[in-house]
Amino acid sequence: MLTLGIETSCDDTCLSVINDKFEIVLEYKINQDSIHKIYGGVVPELASRSHLEYMQIILKDLENKINPQDIKCVASTTHPGLSGSLLIGYMTGYGIANACNATFIPINHLDGHIESVNIGRAYHVKYPMLILLISGGHCQFMLAKNIQEYEVIGKTLDDSVGEALDKIGKMLNLEYPGGPKIEAFARHGKTILPIGKPMYCDNANFSFSGFKTSALRYLDKNVEAKNEHLFISNICKSVEEIVSDNLSYKTNIAIMQTLAKLPELKNFVLCGGVSANILINSKIANTCQKYNLQMHSPNIKYATDNATMIAFAGLKRFQSIQENVK
Ligand code: KG4
Ligand code: ZN
Repeated sequence: MLTLGIETSCDDTCLSVINDKFEIVLEYKINQDSIHKIYGGVVPELASRSHLEYMQIILKDLENKINPQDIKCVASTTHPGLSGSLLIGYMTGYGIANACNATFIPINHLDGHIESVNIGRAYHVKYPMLILLISGGHCQFMLAKNIQEYEVIGKTLDDSVGEALDKIGKMLNLEYPGGPKIEAFARHGKTILPIGKPMYCDNANFSFSGFKTSALRYLDKNVEAKNEHLFISNICKSVEEIVSDNLSYKTNIAIMQTLAKLPELKNFVLCGGVSANILINSKIANTCQKYNLQMHSPNIKYATDNATMIAFAGLKRFQSIQENVK
């Protein structure tokens, strides 16, 4: 029995096939960075057109590799995301499900990111879990007491952390997406901390827009240095240091708040594209350790958008539907 996962919520065209033991059979990911980098960010219309083109290439290859009769479940990301892009993944998945007489399961992109920590693991993380999702579209803490039973503990009041990193990357003329480029430049830089910090108030909400403006103001005052490698490296290191400190400070608050009402909490899930950042990941892991929480984060390959996490979420839902029918 095979499950097909489809992910097209933003700018990656992804399809994945897993078996009923959550083992990966096939994976496809066609990245659109080369198309969007000219514009410094994702252009929704170009993203949906590219999904349409790339999905056909993927399906042609898939046709020769699996038997359609083995597909019993098809899961597509249906929300949240860019509407035109989501539509391509939804219609592709729905069409395949109908043609194969399989069950179609719509998946929330956030559920997919949460599942990403289970990919390649013998044992899946158990509920309850406190989740920090940090990506280009999201920045929020959620308490999951059970499958799809989420309570938001804190969230960004404006930009997501990934969005702030991508925009600062753009200010530094780094290629889109800025997050990984900032991490690469930071390796050669020192912290000079010329930029204001993000919001530090005493709750688990985030705000990155003031921080982003502060970076813009500083760079405007130092235009002549903006092309120097050392200057860029120092800014990137400072940005990485400031953001990771803020995320771990907020993690501390979210953990304390959650433990106060749920002392039996043992698991912390860090997911989303920004969790690939080594400094951010290790500072949050240290914070979790202070409270004896075990932190789980995806293998770096699955931190950013992929279809295997969607297939995992789909197969779990499919299995629970079948359990309820019995
Ligand atoms: O989860 P994701 O692929 O897409 C969304 O659901 O938004 O996350 C993409 C975000 C981008 O903002 C990108 O800059 C950021 O994740 N990102 C990173 C790193 N890798 C990806 N940020 C910091 N360090 C990284 N290594
Ligand atoms: Zn994502």
